[in-house]
Amino acid sequence: MNPKRIPLIAGNWKMHLGLADAAKLAREIREGVGAGDAEVALLVPFTALAVVAEILKGSPVKLGAQNLHWEPQGAFTGEISAFQLADAGCRYAIVGHSERRRLFGETSAIVAKKLAAALAAGLLPILCVGETLEERESQKTWGALTEQFRAALTGLPPVEAAKITLAYEPVWAIGTGKTASPAQAEEAHAFIRKLASQAHGEGFASALRILYGGSVKAENIDALMAQPDVDGALVGGESLKPISFLRIIHYKTLAAAGTRRP
Ligand code: PGA
Repeated sequence: MNPKRIPLIAGNWKMHLGLADAAKLAREIREGVGAGDAEVALLVPFTALAVVAEILKGSPVKLGAQNLHWEPQGAFTGEISAFQLADAGCRYAIVGHSERRRLFGETSAIVAKKLAAALAAGLLPILCVGETLEERESQKTWGALTEQFRAALTGLPPVEAAKITLAYEPVWAIGTGKTASPAQAEEAHAFIRKLASQAHGEGFASALRILYGGSVKAENIDALMAQPDVDGALVGGESLKPISFLRIIHYKTLAAAGTRRP
C-alpha cells in the first residue's frame, strides 16, 4: 500500500439477498464503518440499488453495481445501462468480472465497450483481470493479464483511464477459499502496474489503484494489505457477513509495511 493511493475495500454481493436482508446488511455496514483509511463501497444486485442508496445517503460508504450494458438506452430487454446506474445513485460499477467473462461469454471486446460506457456515464469502473488455474499452471498468467489489460484500455485517453480502479482476481481463488499468497498477489499487482506504465506512463501507473480479489477474509486481509502494490480488496463471500466485512474494512496495517497507519 502506497500512501499516495487511497485504498478501496469493495463488497461484491453477487446474486445474493432479498430487499430486507440487503437493507439490514447495508445498515450494519453504515453503522460500523467509522473512520478509516480505506474508502468503502457496496456493489449490490440491481434490485437492491434503490433501497441501499437510501440507507447509504449521508454516509461515506459508496454504492455500486456489478455489471452494465454498453448502450445508454434502447431495445435491450433485461439489460441495465451505465446511465441508469448513475441515476440510481451508483458511483462504482464492476466491469469484466471473471464470472461474467466465464459464464456469460463476455469477451475482452465487450469488456472494453462496457468500460467506455461506464466512464461516459460518470461511473468509476472497477475493471477485473485475472488468470485461470490452467493459465497459471501452464505459465500463461502474464500473457492473460496483458491481453485483458490492454484490450480493455486500448483507445482510452489517459484522463479517462485515470478514473479506473483495477482488480486483480485470479479465477482459481474466487469463491474457492484458496487465496493467492501475499507474494503471489504482489507479483501480479507489480506486473499490472508495469503494464499501466507502458500504457500511459509512470504517473498514471503510480496513481492506479489495484485491488486484490479472491477469497479475501478477516484472516488474510492484513498480510495482503501489507504488500506495496495492493491497494485494497474486492470481497465476495465475506462481504455478506457484517462482522467479517467490517474487520476487513478495518484491516490492520502491519508495522513492516511502512504505510501510513501506525
Ligand atoms: P470471493 O469473491 O471473495 O467470494 O472469492 C471475490 C469476487 O468474485 O469478487
